[in-house]
Amino acid sequence: MNAPFGAFEHPVVVAGGQVLTERGLERLDLVVHQGIVVELGASVDHPAGATVLDASGALVGPSFVDLHTHLREPGREQAETIETGTRAAALGGYGAVVAMPNTEPTMDTAAVVHMVLERGRNAPCEVAAAGAITVGRLGAQLAPMAELAALGVELFTDDGTGVQDGGVARRAMDYCRGLGVTYAEHCEDLAIAHGGCVHEGAWSALLGLPGQPAAAEEAMVARDLLLAATTGARLHLLHLSTAGSVELVRQAKARGVAVTAEVAPHHLSLTDASLKGYDPCFKVNPPLRPAEHLEALLDGLNDGTIDAVATDHAPHTPELKDLPFDQAPPGMLGLETAASITYEQLVAGRGATIERFFEVMATQPAKIARLDGTGARPFGHSVHGQRVAVGTTANLVVFDPEVRWTLEVDQLASKATNSPFSGARLVGKVRHCLLRGEPVVTDARSTR
Ligand code: DOR
Repeated sequence: MNAPFGAFEHPVVVAGGQVLTERGLERLDLVVHQGIVVELGASVDHPAGATVLDASGALVGPSFVDLHTHLREPGREQAETIETGTRAAALGGYGAVVAMPNTEPTMDTAAVVHMVLERGRNAPCEVAAAGAITVGRLGAQLAPMAELAALGVELFTDDGTGVQDGGVARRAMDYCRGLGVTYAEHCEDLAIAHGGCVHEGAWSALLGLPGQPAAAEEAMVARDLLLAATTGARLHLLHLSTAGSVELVRQAKARGVAVTAEVAPHHLSLTDASLKGYDPCFKVNPPLRPAEHLEALLDGLNDGTIDAVATDHAPHTPELKDLPFDQAPPGMLGLETAASITYEQLVAGRGATIERFFEVMATQPAKIARLDGTGARPFGHSVHGQRVAVGTTANLVVFDPEVRWTLEVDQLASKATNSPFSGARLVGKVRHCLLRGEPVVTDARSTR
């Protein structure tokens, strides 16, 4: 049992919770020392000097992993920084996040990726990096993917835009296959989207806003599934939002295509009817869709077609987000509300098991990002997404599914305030979060 890099020295006891182990949920206490779970039992001796965290009435499992976080550093530090974004992530129960590469400059060189990883090293939540597929995310020339992969980059994406040229996508997938890394797509055919900033349907017509049809997403999903089958590359589909996309993934998985997919909490909980007040807080890309899409996404998440929940945490300054709807940038905050929304929609609303909740929030995203111990870890990332057992790294979340709370955006740790759930009553909240054994969140407050 080797202590993980950067492990917390002191003993911590997590007492009284329902703990997710290989056998399912069990009422257990656990002792953590030097970053490792060293004891699990119905009642354990408290080591001298241990910090005791009360987990009664709460669930204890692997801390969450976010496949899709916009930390905005470098370049847009007015909206978020690695420091504020990782504090928000820890408060949301995350032990690791994958930083998206649409920074300024783009994360398309080893220097920029190195800087992000280095600045994330001592954060309260581990920072992994996604690299850009193309230089400047312009869709033409491939980024130096091998150099980025050598730094431990496991996911490549031009997120913010999809790779429009199928020939470029095919070549990038060939490289991904060769490097053993994953090609991750923001699925949006810009020619079909034709500048639409909301879903094309009854609400776009009523509000007089330019819409983009579901087909703009689905055309690229279909293309990439064919290319993944052609090249043998691992494909991950970002923030899926339509019923047709879910069906395409379901069919491709049945054919044996190596594809995984994620969905964002807002697409599981909000429809395009939220746009009726023209509040740019509800502007997001892909756009909010009618209820039948939301239902299909929840079904897909429940039955395993969609593998993971990912926040697409997209902070924006008020100067930009308060512009008129058609001019405001798309994106919403997600890190501090994702667990509550997902628990409410999937477990409380859909009857999914608590095991499935931890699968979609922790285990599957850790696997997809290869933060489950299988990936290269030159920056000392620890192992995530494991069920609790003696000997596992203590990346743990204590989530209270009963707490009811009202979201006040000025109380968020994120620098930005563009949450669509501002003022909403939410159910379920992260109580404690441990990173490599360190209580980085206790009683819903950051210790950093
Ligand atoms: O709504 C979004 N915001 N979708 C994206 O794909 C990018 C993101 C951002 O970076 O703001």
